[in-house]
Amino acid sequence: MKLVILGGGGFRVPLVHGALLGDRGAGRVTRVVLHDVDAGRLRAIARVLGEQAAGVPDAPEVITTTDLDEALRGADFVFSAIRVGGLEGRANDERVALAEGVLGQETVGAGGIAYGLRTVPVAVDIARRVARLAPDAWVINFTNPAGLVTEAMSHHLGDRVIGICDSPVGLGRRIARVLGAKPDEAWIDYVGLNHLGWVRGLRVAGQDRLPRLLADPALLGSFEEGRLFGADWLRSLGAIPNEYLHYYYFNREAVRAYQQAERTRGAFLRDQQESFYAGTADPDVSALELWDRTRAEREATYMSENREAAGAGEREADDLSGGYEKVALALMRAIARDERATLILNVRNRGTLSPLDADAVIEVPCLVDANGAHPVSVDPLPGHAVGLVCAVKAVEREVLAAARSGSRATAVKAFALHPLVDSVSAARRLVDAYRAVHPGLAYLGR
Ligand code: G6P
Ligand code: MN
Repeated sequence: MKLVILGGGGFRVPLVHGALLGDRGAGRVTRVVLHDVDAGRLRAIARVLGEQAAGVPDAPEVITTTDLDEALRGADFVFSAIRVGGLEGRANDERVALAEGVLGQETVGAGGIAYGLRTVPVAVDIARRVARLAPDAWVINFTNPAGLVTEAMSHHLGDRVIGICDSPVGLGRRIARVLGAKPDEAWIDYVGLNHLGWVRGLRVAGQDRLPRLLADPALLGSFEEGRLFGADWLRSLGAIPNEYLHYYYFNREAVRAYQQAERTRGAFLRDQQESFYAGTADPDVSALELWDRTRAEREATYMSENREAAGAGEREADDLSGGYEKVALALMRAIARDERATLILNVRNRGTLSPLDADAVIEVPCLVDANGAHPVSVDPLPGHAVGLVCAVKAVEREVLAAARSGSRATAVKAFALHPLVDSVSAARRLVDAYRAVHPGLAYLGR
């Protein structure tokens, strides 16, 4: 089986490779093609993978290439994990928004819109090539903003593209743990958009355990989201939001904390990874050890400004690794081996959330088998959540329209309609400032 990883020189690729090495089952991946636009990054990651595979019998063959079409031909699965504009681009997304006084973050608010506007044209080009060169391949989209990018690709690939995120399953796992339930035996009633969803229930043997958690302030204070949002607010909501909703419910605090930080997250990661990739050029250092140290530091500092601002403390030590690779592998296995699995994924709505149209990509529990991912029917969202979901989906649609037409006015509309951008004038300045720093946005202005 041939797996292609786009963004194959990316820092998280060894996590995926590590998961592949642990897969001994029949029909496992035997050939991995890493594609990247940057040959130097490919060389660095190939060194890490080489060290990872040392001594592992039947490790998959790993090939690297900078030729996209060559990579895609004959693929069974494609993991799309690109970062258009690199971490320098992310740092600029964050900085420009914070300078305008609004949230500067990778996927949420103005920063997420800028990232989407840069990424959608590239993702659409990839989707078209997959449709032509590997029409039977399944595309698993890791690329952020994941819901928006998956929707853009679905216009060319239909339900053969499935978006993933580690945050819903991570949240479900933390809730199950405080309730003393086994995460694998719990049904997590979660729905929304990517990075914009809510856990409304957690059923074990048919019984919803969430009311017990919401009724117990001490229990609520014993896990990350409980501290991040505070017991009172969680009880008011009657649900546990995805951590990314902190940017909506505590927007001022988040903006202030980020403005006061020494560096943005993107700038921190840019500097950190620059020294990792440079360091791997030294033949005397272990690329794998260098990678692992860098990874541990990245995970330990994840969302730290946010947690500090909310007095939420450290992330639980045994919950550091996000788990993207686990979700991706579970999904790939369920499709390839027709092993039924339930996973929270980004797929087309069909009729699941009635306020949205059938083609809107949402994040929802899905039954997965050889025919793909099928959203499970869920209870409707309460009005406040419908409001946010519809507002943000409308913004995503403007981003898709702007990427198609190149219209500056449409891009302004996308920023201006976002619930976290408070002025049309600010939206106009954001478009101009982003165009000035991002070569990838030169297309806007027709
Ligand atoms: C979580 C989210 C990802 C996001 C990442 C950012 O894992 O689900 O979508 O990209 O956090 O983490 P970072 O270490 O890059 O700030
Ligand atoms: Mn995510």
